[in-house]
Amino acid sequence: MKKIGIFYGSTTGNTKDAAYQIASNLSVDDSDVHDVAQSSPSDVAPYDVLLLGSSTWGSGELQDDWYDFLSGLEVLDLKGKKIGLFGCGDESMSDTFCGALGEIYERLKGTGAEFIGAFNADGYSFEHSPAEIDGKFVGLLLDDVNHSELTQERIKAWCDELKAEM
Ligand SMILES: Cc1cc2nc3c(=O)[nH]c(=O)nc-3n(C[C@H](O)[C@H](O)[C@H](O)COP(=O)(O)O)c2cc1C
Repeated sequence: MKKIGIFYGSTTGNTKDAAYQIASNLSVDDSDVHDVAQSSPSDVAPYDVLLLGSSTWGSGELQDDWYDFLSGLEVLDLKGKKIGLFGCGDESMSDTFCGALGEIYERLKGTGAEFIGAFNADGYSFEHSPAEIDGKFVGLLLDDVNHSELTQERIKAWCDELKAEM
């Protein structure tokens, strides 16, 4: 059984809520759900699978608590681990939708970890997202500002996909 750790940064609680819903879908214990504001990068060590969540702020930027955590994470050797990304944004910010996930993906590519949970970009409405590569999102993109009614089903679909990839 793979050990899953969920690490999130969230300013108004949306990505935090998503983190706990993902935990529930994947039967991950609450003690394995971590706020990056209170975590250090070495806390990822016991886990085989890291599910990393950030909302997007400013103009396509990381959620505040992610800056230090990501700087520490990107210099670790994460070979042998799998990483799935998720986060909340606002698709009406149509050039930067969920940009934080694109940044986390780019900066963790060199760690040796394998990315899982690329998500079909159909059904979203935006001009450009730094989190979209080759017609797929690098992870699960949620929009609780405009489409909170879709969040639960998107989370379930993503978790089903993860179960097949873990
Ligand atoms: C000032 C401000 C800037 C934002 N910038 C972006 C952005 O560039 N791209 C995006 O997708 N969402 C953006 N958002 C939307 C947030 O990511 C969204 O509200 C999200 O649900 C917040 O999640 P959290 O509660 O987990 O922090 C912005 C929101 C605010 C208030």
